[in-house]
Amino acid sequence: MQTIAWQISLVLMTLVAFGFAFVAIKSGRRQADYTPLQKSAYRLRTRLFWALVLVFGPAMIYTLLELPYDAVRAHPGSGPVQVVEATGYQWRWELSTDRVAVDQPVEFRVTSADINHGFGIYDADLHLVAQTQAMPGYTNTLRHTFSKAGTYKILCMEYCGVAHHNMLTEIRVGGE
Ligand code: CUA
Repeated sequence: MQTIAWQISLVLMTLVAFGFAFVAIKSGRRQADYTPLQKSAYRLRTRLFWALVLVFGPAMIYTLLELPYDAVRAHPGSGPVQVVEATGYQWRWELSTDRVAVDQPVEFRVTSADINHGFGIYDADLHLVAQTQAMPGYTNTLRHTFSKAGTYKILCMEYCGVAHHNMLTEIRVGGE
């Protein structure tokens, strides 16, 4: 049993030695041998790059169009601009008015009295319709035209302390 094991390993070691010798002899021609492989790898890489561009390019544009940043362009509305001054405090919102008309552009002038807050307007189904940041010492202008009447919620979208979740108010669109 011992001799058979020894003979088998001797054969295997010989094969490994031949393998090394083969690689050593062939290594002189390495550059020439790898060129076609290198070329096809580069070709594959180029194809992969364009596949990514073709897939992610339109996907990126599509997802950007879905964002409510430019909602004013999607619903231009008509009539005079209604101005709502909005100020964030820890932890409440103060609005100059909580009523606006439907189908008429609204300009929210959003700022903060203390730290950064997120000003997010949500419809009755809690879908975000428009948002901007409320920053101390700076006024962000957010234009939006509400195309549907109803009660909208304004929630803080940025964690701003223990009672962050209490930072909500409502704005009525349309109605009597
Ligand atoms: Cu203000 Cu969160």
